[in-house]
Amino acid sequence: MLCCLSLQNVGLGVIAGFAVMLISHFVRRKSRPSLNGKHILITGGSLGIGRSFAIEAAKRGANITLVARNMNNLQAAAADVQKAVIGPDQKVACLSMDLSGNFEEIQKNIKSAEEENGPIFMLVNCAGTSLCGKLEDLKDDDIKYVTHLNVLGTILPTKAVITGMKERGEGKVIVVASQAALIGVYGFCGYSATKFAVRGFAEALRMEAKPYGVTVTLALPPDTDTPGFAEEQKHKPEECRLVSEEAGFSTPEVVATKMLDDALDGKFYSTVGLECALASYICAGFTPPFTALEAFLQFFSIGFLRLFAVYILDKMDRIVTDCKNKKEKQK
Ligand SMILES: NC(=O)c1ccc[n+]([C@@H]2O[C@H](COP(=O)([O-])OP(=O)(O)OC[C@H]3O[C@@H](n4cnc5c(N)ncnc54)[C@H](OP(=O)(O)O)[C@@H]3O)[C@@H](O)[C@H]2O)c1
Ligand SMILES: *[C@@H]1O[C@H](CO)[C@@H](O)[C@H](O)[C@H]1NC(C)=O
Repeated sequence: MLCCLSLQNVGLGVIAGFAVMLISHFVRRKSRPSLNGKHILITGGSLGIGRSFAIEAAKRGANITLVARNMNNLQAAAADVQKAVIGPDQKVACLSMDLSGNFEEIQKNIKSAEEENGPIFMLVNCAGTSLCGKLEDLKDDDIKYVTHLNVLGTILPTKAVITGMKERGEGKVIVVASQAALIGVYGFCGYSATKFAVRGFAEALRMEAKPYGVTVTLALPPDTDTPGFAEEQKHKPEECRLVSEEAGFSTPEVVATKMLDDALDGKFYSTVGLECALASYICAGFTPPFTALEAFLQFFSIGFLRLFAVYILDKMDRIVTDCKNKKEKQK
């Protein structure tokens, strides 16, 4: 009985899924605004996902400000972004600052970026870092740093631009979280805590900003081929690698383009690939559906997806227990 119900859900889910894809395809075609003359500020814009985002936005006519600490990386990225511009008047600027630092400096710097390149139309909070390891193995200072950078480094720059966006009646904020904002797995006590935090931030801000025509998008990228990811691989415990193996892998170009499109469409969640989309469905909770059809699809699929989540979780728990037993044998 349970099995038939699930199959029925899958059938309905697939049909509704195709319908959603078809409809949203046409909806998007019509309404995506141009970026000509718009100012986009991207934190973490010198490397990885942020850098790819800047290049994609430049291809669509935006003026770009890149924010990061290392000036050499910023200038190298700015040169690549400059190659992607489509008009002679487009500007590409660099801003070196530490986003784990104090608010006054962040606010002052963002103000000067607005004086130089115009009011910020879109803020992309992409600066962030990973922290991987069992809780007892993490250094206290690293836990503090990742919390400052990933959480305050998102909230404070957003606070610096939100008033202007609301006054102008337009604006887009992207919060780059992670799959680790939906699922807490082995090795990510420090990291998941920060990404769950910015997820809560994005949900609350979305509600505050909506009446003013300002939208908020929460990006949930899968593992993505970036310098940050390569660094993370060096410190990943075996358990963490094994449990996150099935979560999909993408390129910064694909993730960044999807983020930009979803933000322009005013979508709340931005996901890449089926695994991420399903995870966001399971955790849809009190987030707005993109279309009525999406709500319908969620209504029919979430019960089944919950069973799937229980199965996956059990599989992960077994992996962790197996690793523990294996290590004890080796001793
Ligand atoms: N790659 C993945 O697999 C993946 C998956 C899910 C989510 N994400 C999230 O996506 C975002 C970007 O990830 P990524 O892999 O593209 O990162 P990345 O390759 O490590 O690049 C990080 C960027 O942030 C900047 N940054 C780091 N610390 C900073 C600080 N204290 N102040 C200002 N800027 C700082 C870096 O420049 P400087 O070092 O010069 O400051 C760099 O431009 C992060 O929030 C990450 O958590 C990544
Ligand atoms: C931004 O870029 C456009 C071209 O896309 C340009 O005409 C405009 O002057 C730029 N705005 C500022 C404030 O630099």
